[in-house]
Amino acid sequence: MAEHLPGAREAVLKGSTPLPDDLPQIRGYDFNQGVDHRALLQSYLTTGFQASSFAQAVREINKMIEKRLEPAEEEKECESSNSKPPGCTIFLGYTSNLISSGVRETIRYLVQHKMVDVIVTTAGGVEEDFIKCLAPTFLGEFNLQGKELRQRGINRIGNLLVPNDNYCMFEDWLMPILDQMVQEQKTEGTQWTPSKMIHRLGKEINNPDSVYYWAYRNDIPVFSPALTDGSLGDMIYFHSYKNPGLVLDIVEDIRRMNSNAVFAKRTGMIILGGGLVKHHIANANLMRNGADFAVFVNTGQEFDGSDSGAHPDEAVSWGKIRMDAKPVKVYGDASIIFPLLVAETFASRASQLIQEKRD
Ligand SMILES: NC(=O)c1ccc[n+]([C@@H]2O[C@H](COP(=O)([O-])OP(=O)(O)OC[C@H]3O[C@@H](n4cnc5c(N)ncnc54)[C@H](O)[C@@H]3O)[C@@H](O)[C@H]2O)c1
Repeated sequence: MAEHLPGAREAVLKGSTPLPDDLPQIRGYDFNQGVDHRALLQSYLTTGFQASSFAQAVREINKMIEKRLEPAEEEKECESSNSKPPGCTIFLGYTSNLISSGVRETIRYLVQHKMVDVIVTTAGGVEEDFIKCLAPTFLGEFNLQGKELRQRGINRIGNLLVPNDNYCMFEDWLMPILDQMVQEQKTEGTQWTPSKMIHRLGKEINNPDSVYYWAYRNDIPVFSPALTDGSLGDMIYFHSYKNPGLVLDIVEDIRRMNSNAVFAKRTGMIILGGGLVKHHIANANLMRNGADFAVFVNTGQEFDGSDSGAHPDEAVSWGKIRMDAKPVKVYGDASIIFPLLVAETFASRASQLIQEKRD
């Protein structure tokens, strides 16, 4: 019959040229092995789609950790901290909503054990951590009505609910600290920057649940050049009428931020979400002609030309990621992806990383 269909047989049954022998074959997890979550995550490499990107991100972060564990060079000192940089300086960036969510506890773990070196977040990513030390955030629903919530003084972040009272408690906690900062600026000549302010707030909160308490304890710089775009800005605004004069210098911070990249032996970027946090870290890495390793986790798409959605290869074109790097982008919600990434990387190697910190 096929001889009556000229060309069809050749079209359907066209022969293939052989694929390289080393290409992985697609095969997913077999639940006949029982429920083994580690083996399940390891099977993602050969599962395809974002599961494979997840597994490639695990590999990329583990490469950062390998290099981090290499002994530091003697001669290279970091201008910003006067300490020798590790074999790989790891920059971690995350959007505000991730601190509102339970991803905060994963981030706190990394900072507590000094597994990352430089943090960038937005204002909400700073204040929500302190506010959670004062009062909790609750699980609600995405579809709760804004008008009803407003009447009840409840704020919604996705399916999270934050009572407005929490921000009133934050004001009570923050105002005396702002007074003190103004006083120190006037009497001791302290030049405040966003990172110095976050360091100070981390000291004042004195609570081991806080990301920034541990950043203070472990001397991990936290950069937030738009620190006024959140409740912190509201408080700084009100305070400026009661006790004017506070100055936050972003110039000193950009020098400190970029120095962390310039004086690093190698760098790795782990960036959750887009916007300021993504660009600020990538731009600092331009100062060293690109990061050596990069993992982006975000929901952004590149068709609109946004930096948030830009694929890592766009950053290669700008010199923000090295041309020979193997950056990975995982498309998806970081609240699902990041705790699993940490489970397969930093947390699995905790004993080595914590030992390295002690040495
Ligand atoms: N809780 C809050 O979200 C909050 C609170 C106070 C102030 N703010 C302010 O709002 C401004 C904008 O916030 P932003 O810059 O932190 O980020 P954003 O919320 O505007 O997100 C930027 C991009 O990151 C990606 N993204 C966000 N959440 C993600 C997730 N869970 N998983 C994967 N990708 C994700 C998306 O592509 C998004 O477009 C900032 O100035 C911030 O200080 C936010």
